[in-house]
Amino acid sequence: MSAEVDVLVARLDLPAAELAALLPLLDEGERARAQRYGREILRSRFIAGRAFLRMALAVRLDTDPRRLRFTYGPRGKPALDGPLRFNLSHTDDVALLALSERGEIGADVERVRPGMDHVALAQRVFSARETAWLVAHSEAERPKAFFDCWTAKEAYVKARGDGLAFPLQAFHALPGQFAVYDDRRESERWSVLPAPLAGDLSAAVAAEGDGWRPTLREWRWGEGEGP
Ligand SMILES: CC(C)(COP(=O)(O)OP(=O)(O)OC[C@H]1O[C@@H](n2cnc3c(N)ncnc32)[C@H](O)[C@@H]1OP(=O)(O)O)[C@@H](O)C(=O)NCCC(=O)NCCS
Repeated sequence: MSAEVDVLVARLDLPAAELAALLPLLDEGERARAQRYGREILRSRFIAGRAFLRMALAVRLDTDPRRLRFTYGPRGKPALDGPLRFNLSHTDDVALLALSERGEIGADVERVRPGMDHVALAQRVFSARETAWLVAHSEAERPKAFFDCWTAKEAYVKARGDGLAFPLQAFHALPGQFAVYDDRRESERWSVLPAPLAGDLSAAVAAEGDGWRPTLREWRWGEGEGP
């Protein structure tokens, strides 16, 4: 079993001909879902995101991307039979995929958005400790700090498979500190770490256990096409 947590980052805005070549990799359900997107750009990014997911998993499992059959957890988390765990996240034209055989995994990427009232939002969705941590930053630092904390929180709830149905104020995910209140076993079960990306992106990965670091790599579209 590999103890590594691999993180792949892909760009989703592709030329039309490349996108058309990826469409056959998706199954019927995925293509039907793509059709439900009203806006062309969202449809294209969904297709590219699912193709990226399938191609990257197929490389890792040495199989054909079309052969992968996803199952879905009670709140929609995709999974495969076998030890490989993965989680996908996207923001605008960027997708991030975390892969691991060490246990459950969650990932989140967000573009850092200035021009919001980050403290007011934190007061609604962060724990008191996280809000205090955010307020301790200068105003200039707050947008990045907010999204670093947000992605860490989302990575954890996605690792659980609950998504935003899990109460966000029931835990904190701060640099070097992770705790689920009144649940010591759960607090010790996970590590949540930043996945440092260039530019105005913030990302985090949550995985079971400790002693791991995310290993980041840019996805090259050609690499999933096989020999
Ligand atoms: C999972 C969730 C947090 C995603 O949030 P997001 O910021 O829009 O999306 P991200 O880009 O980070 O992640 C989306 C990907 O996560 C994966 N995913 C979907 N449901 C998931 C879940 N429950 N847990 C973990 N991962 C999930 C999918 O691969 C999805 O990709 P796709 O949209 O291409 O299929 C959100 O949709 C959610 O909370 N879902 C649970 C459903 C639910 O109960 N919602 C109630 C809200 S109170």
